[in-house]
Amino acid sequence: MIILGIETSCDETSAAVVEETAGADRPWRIRSNVVASQVAIHREWGGVVPELSARQHIRDICGVVERALTDAGSPTLEAVAVTQGPGLVGSLLVGLQFAKALAWTRSVPVIPVHHLAGHIESLVLQGGEMPMPAIVLVVSGGHTSLYRLAAPGSYERLGRTRDDAAGEAYDKVGKLLHLGYPGGPVIDRLATQGNDRAVAFPKMRLTHADRNAPELPGTRDFSFSGLKTSVLRHVTARRAALGLTAADPLPERETIDVAASFQRVVVDTLLDRLFDAARWYQARSIGIAGGVSANSRLRADAEERGRAKGIPVFVPDLALATDNAAMIAAAGLRRLRGAGVEPHIEINAEASLAL
Ligand code: KG4
Ligand code: ZN
Repeated sequence: MIILGIETSCDETSAAVVEETAGADRPWRIRSNVVASQVAIHREWGGVVPELSARQHIRDICGVVERALTDAGSPTLEAVAVTQGPGLVGSLLVGLQFAKALAWTRSVPVIPVHHLAGHIESLVLQGGEMPMPAIVLVVSGGHTSLYRLAAPGSYERLGRTRDDAAGEAYDKVGKLLHLGYPGGPVIDRLATQGNDRAVAFPKMRLTHADRNAPELPGTRDFSFSGLKTSVLRHVTARRAALGLTAADPLPERETIDVAASFQRVVVDTLLDRLFDAARWYQARSIGIAGGVSANSRLRADAEERGRAKGIPVFVPDLALATDNAAMIAAAGLRRLRGAGVEPHIEINAEASLAL
């Protein structure tokens, strides 16, 4: 089967053609994956502006889909998969309506896909089927969620952030340090040159966390707002001590050390939760997906911990880590082959769709 995927939930317009393979461990092959990023548009505002995002998707969607079809050799499509949510509702609607219209003209089903199912399946697109059970962390600008997969396509959420997503914390700290938007990649690059013990930022502490009862709701949640606040306090105090205003950057050496110290805490927090869940549920593999999985320290430390514990760690390449439609097509195929979805045209966009 050959399927077209469409993704417009946030600031990338993407279309991709993915086909099923006969291979036992690698179920899908990417024939094309086209992404038009809006980062340059939103950079000026220091974050994604929903209305600008929706309008830009409208401008880009036709060209992006056309290009994905041409790159794939103009195949005969057998289904269209599209992100139904979660995301910005105006942006989601552009992709969804386009997918419905295209599916209708070609008399093929339209398959609604949860954005995070897409991120999880990006791991399989990249590395083949994961040994089950698996624990997957989806970590991006909008999400920090931990899932358990007892079998392929069955996603059970174990925890999520109670406030900021990890990528959001990166972006806010980046802004505070005057590093531009998005902050994640810049902090990642600076942090490699810094002393990660220079500032003792606190690791998250959740009020109801109970290590002896990991089944309690909320026990595997994350929180990054406390860390963000303590970075703010530290930077404000240092600026005052140096006679600087909020408009001034800290001296370069200090900026680099703050970046490194912040990154150490984020990475340790994410990996502690992830590996703790893996141990508790006796996982046979671990995955990290979403934009923040591009982080060099997160990848290196995850691989090191995985090696030490003898558990394979799946991480996507950059092109599959950030938002893309190939992962949506893959999740669509998974869904179609799974619990027998009844695809129908009456679906609507859902800003806070549950998986
Ligand atoms: O998955 P994604 O492209 O979009 C969302 O769905 O949010 O993720 C974007 C997020 C941004 O917050 C960005 O700062 C972060 O991923 N990010 C990184 C890195 N590259 C991107 N964070 C840390 N280190 C990186 N290397
Ligand atoms: Zn995403």
